[in-house]
Amino acid sequence: MNAKTAKPPKTTPLDRILQSQGFGTRRYCGDLVAAGMVEVEGELCEDPRAEFVLEGLRLTVDGEDWVCHDKAYLMLHKPTGYECSQRPLHHPSVYTLLPVPLRERGVQAVGRLDQDTTGLLLLSDDGQFIHAQTSPKRKVPKVYEVATAEPVIEAQAAALREGVQLEDEPAPIAALACEIVGERALRLTLAEGKYHQVKRMVAAAGNHVAALHRSRIGGLALDPALAPGEWRWLTPADLAELARKD
Ligand code: URA
Repeated sequence: MNAKTAKPPKTTPLDRILQSQGFGTRRYCGDLVAAGMVEVEGELCEDPRAEFVLEGLRLTVDGEDWVCHDKAYLMLHKPTGYECSQRPLHHPSVYTLLPVPLRERGVQAVGRLDQDTTGLLLLSDDGQFIHAQTSPKRKVPKVYEVATAEPVIEAQAAALREGVQLEDEPAPIAALACEIVGERALRLTLAEGKYHQVKRMVAAAGNHVAALHRSRIGGLALDPALAPGEWRWLTPADLAELARKD
């Protein structure tokens, strides 16, 4: 595309941008702007109909900095003691770890981790992305760091690589990879995301999970800069890693 034929980027009124980001109804967002509570790229803007390019727009809303994204793609370092449910039963929800606008715009976890599992959890409000990442057909590999209750023996790792029979499953399930990485530590790569799959597989192999951490989904590793409970936006490079089909 040359400069003459390039279309100007699409612009959107500020009240609509705020609404899309989860700040409330269009009317409420318009009132926020008119009340002088919104800065755009560091400048006060009091006109709810002023138009801007949404993607990457930097706002300050009632003193809080916000970068606008058309779709939300996030990684969270899930801590222990949080449930991946909107209506948790026994522990707080992982959604309480996100800013209110992200919850309001309907961000959802891509699959679930148990309340006592830590590590990489993706979240998004893009239904197609969630479907692609969780579809059993795509077999996105997920890597788990497993602390075991008993010392691991090679026969257990071999059983996990060759396949173990789980209750209610028609055939044995094999890990894509399984290596012993410590006296009581395994690194397990799975293609599926069945209920309590790691715990059930390790139990079927004759050991027991003492602690579980997901370190990687496809080509994307948990960002070591994120402490438990912290989240960040996925970058275009992160999304490219997740889209890779190899
Ligand atoms: N397998 C489990 O048993 N638990 C998790 O949280 C994830 C995978």
